[in-house]
Amino acid sequence: MKELVHKLYEEKKLSPEEFFRLLSDRTEQTEEYAEDLADQVRKENYGNVIFVRGLIEFTNYCRNDCYYCGIRRSNHKALRYRLSLEEILDCCREGYSLGFRTFVLQGGEDGYFARDKMVELIQAVKREYPDCALTLSIGEKSREEYKAYRLAGADRYLLRHETADEEHYRLLHPKELSIARRKECLWNLKKLGFQTGAGFMVGSPGQTAGTLTKDFLFLQELQPQMVGIGPFIPHKDTPFAKEKAGLLRDTLFYLALIRLMLPRVLLPATTALGTIHPEGRELGIRCGANVVMPNLSPSKVRKKYMLYDNKICTGEEGAEGIEDLKKRMEKIGCFITADRGDYKG
Ligand code: 5AD
Repeated sequence: MKELVHKLYEEKKLSPEEFFRLLSDRTEQTEEYAEDLADQVRKENYGNVIFVRGLIEFTNYCRNDCYYCGIRRSNHKALRYRLSLEEILDCCREGYSLGFRTFVLQGGEDGYFARDKMVELIQAVKREYPDCALTLSIGEKSREEYKAYRLAGADRYLLRHETADEEHYRLLHPKELSIARRKECLWNLKKLGFQTGAGFMVGSPGQTAGTLTKDFLFLQELQPQMVGIGPFIPHKDTPFAKEKAGLLRDTLFYLALIRLMLPRVLLPATTALGTIHPEGRELGIRCGANVVMPNLSPSKVRKKYMLYDNKICTGEEGAEGIEDLKKRMEKIGCFITADRGDYKG
């Protein structure tokens, strides 16, 4: 199996059969080999620099009803909120003073933030912080809408594909959502010049070596500038409440494979990874991740943006914990940077 890891490192791609083999019966040795190699590749490409992004969760209203997600439309227990333009700009101001030069506006698919509102918001952030990169993570929109956001100044867009397998996609989502549409959105974003991020949950119900093979092949084809992966974690008020969470080991192995396949990709050690293990993010970085995304949302709303149970929101993962984060990174020989940290292909 080691030879497949080495081949991925050398050639940056594998065939479907090879991916399937690597994903279905790996040994501990294979894991270790992949993870050490990924750590090395991250260092070759980015040195010991870890990029930080300030995450602003600006609305938890969502028109969608994804079975795994705590802010799905049918979860009537979720306390809904929206931040005002002023509140969002306050988050940016706070983040800027802490050294952040990338802001990520993430939210549910909220009809209130329709095209014109979003354009206004993007322009306002870019006007006040022209030296900062702005990332959007607000779901599926028409090509025209994406274009308007791009013209308004948005630089990057995160839209996880969640799973590239059609049947698996249907198991995770209601019928009005489709993987075809999802992929189309991602291709549109890329063509419009966004630095684009795809990704998937690890250990979501129904995930197999077969579905994961499709995820890796899709990433190989899309060549995204960013990839977000993190363990699935059940949320008590969703249809998947009783499902098992994704595993740390699996997540670390897949992070490593992604680093080997896409050596220059911007790859976060996600909040979900930090939620299932106290040192999840450090472990992620050791396996090829090079981005962390502290939470810049006002503390009063953090508990409301509960995508899954026990999502960390106590402070140490937040932007105000930046000093702590710095120390944690230094402990593993890394330092965080205030750079925008654009993708350099
Ligand atoms: N566990 C882990 N990740 C989740 N997401 C949504 N719900 C969960 C969950 N229960 C992830 C999805 C989405 C991102 C914003 O959060 O992958 O794209």
